[in-house]
Amino acid sequence: MALVPAAGQGVRLGESMPKAFVPIGGSPMLTLAVDGLIASGVVDHIVIMVPAELIERAGALVADRNSVSVVAGGAERIDSVRAGLAAAPQATHILVHDAARALTPPSLIARVVAALRTGQRAVVPGLPVTDTVKSVDAHGVVTGTPDRGGLRAIQTPQGFEAQLLREAYALDLPATDDAGLVERLGARVHVIPGDPMAFKITTPLDLRLADELLADRPAARAVAR
Ligand code: C5P
Repeated sequence: MALVPAAGQGVRLGESMPKAFVPIGGSPMLTLAVDGLIASGVVDHIVIMVPAELIERAGALVADRNSVSVVAGGAERIDSVRAGLAAAPQATHILVHDAARALTPPSLIARVVAALRTGQRAVVPGLPVTDTVKSVDAHGVVTGTPDRGGLRAIQTPQGFEAQLLREAYALDLPATDDAGLVERLGARVHVIPGDPMAFKITTPLDLRLADELLADRPAARAVAR
């Protein structure tokens, strides 16, 4: 089953509506992300977490898709995922997939699930980092330059054995991704090759790029209609 956090306000995108409802090529990001999960053929049920006041609108967007439910998210992404977990008590394996990664290829979703099926308990897609990354202190002074070769930019979907993810969320610690919490338990997290198309749509530049890419993708254009 898959949890889709879609409750962010998307302040950095500068649009007038919460990010997951912003259209790309005519379809809301939320719909594109859900359709990608369905097209992967490896997800049986999807729970979407949206701002409480938009539950009805999100429900209408996915009304004709089987096995998709909508619940209220929370103030932070972590709160939204926790709300989704509570709505999926029966799941044995869980993918957590950002609505904001609306163009994620179904093949990447299938590869994450295939890795889970080999018995791995936590699987995340990641890409080599192309920029040099530096750590800085509060004054903007560089404190270090980690070896880029050992870094990966991590995407979603992130896949977990459900019990492991539930234990990780029970820790109640801050984290910017789900695997970060699982790492705190001391569990092994495997990175598989990610896909550039799974980029997170965060800024107006990302939105323009996503629009362009979707216009070039005949199958996705058909979904958008
Ligand atoms: O803000 P950011 O781009 O990191 O958000 C990643 C994903 O988490 C987005 O799909 C966003 O809608 C979701 N989110 C959420 N609840 C929040 C904040 C973000 O579901 N409170």
